[in-house]
Amino acid sequence: MSYAIVGFGAVGQALARAFARKHIKVAVASRRPPEALAPQARAIGPTVVAKSLRDALEADTIILAVPFGEHREVAKALPNWEGKTVIDAMNALVPLEELDGLLSSAFVAKAFAGAKLVKGFNHLIAATLAADPIVEGGHRVVFLSSDDEDAIAPVAALAKQLGFAPVKLGKLNEGGALVHARGRSWGQLIFQDLFKKEQ
Ligand SMILES: NC(=O)c1ccc[n+]([C@@H]2O[C@H](COP(=O)([O-])OP(=O)(O)OC[C@H]3O[C@@H](n4cnc5c(N)ncnc54)[C@H](OP(=O)(O)O)[C@@H]3O)[C@@H](O)[C@H]2O)c1
Repeated sequence: MSYAIVGFGAVGQALARAFARKHIKVAVASRRPPEALAPQARAIGPTVVAKSLRDALEADTIILAVPFGEHREVAKALPNWEGKTVIDAMNALVPLEELDGLLSSAFVAKAFAGAKLVKGFNHLIAATLAADPIVEGGHRVVFLSSDDEDAIAPVAALAKQLGFAPVKLGKLNEGGALVHARGRSWGQLIFQDLFKKEQ
């Protein structure tokens, strides 16, 4: 598996820290050229490699950590998303009418047609996500949901490798609704910083 994080702000860097902590290679990219991101990538760790957006999108698994409104720009960067897994770490405090009545990740999935989309790593503030997820033998929980249930298992395996305890919530409009912002309100599991004794 190869991994990339698109968006290298608060959440992108928090996730890059999680990869670096476990010595897992990850590409990071934004609209800026790789030279602009490289010093911060190097400061986080040697397995974090700044790339152009185009080169980063060669990864099999791509974590979206851009402002919600930018996801369409990222989607346009590849002609075809077949075979890719896209992890939506974004939150969207957007009226449902602007999302064709869909939850935000279902709306995002339409832009990345062909990809397997999993919502995850979105429910914690960036500073919490950046911290070591293993505390006193417990593992920080991340919630995963997808309309493509086969897509969740490899993302759960990644979350475990990173030291988190993945909790599968099922489909986006079932358990996944608990980790979506809807209109102006946050899903009930957003900001809940939970730990499990076992991963
Ligand atoms: N901050 C939090 O605590 C938090 C927690 C959970 C979830 N989230 C969600 O995570 C996402 C990112 O939030 P953030 O706080 O990390 O934002 P941020 O600090 O503003 O970072 C956004 C990043 O996205 C990049 N970017 C913007 N447009 C892009 C595009 N079209 N293509 C590629 N890269 C692009 C920006 O870099 P360039 O300007 O160089 O392109 C920047 O690196 C949001 O959807 C937010 O709702 C945030």
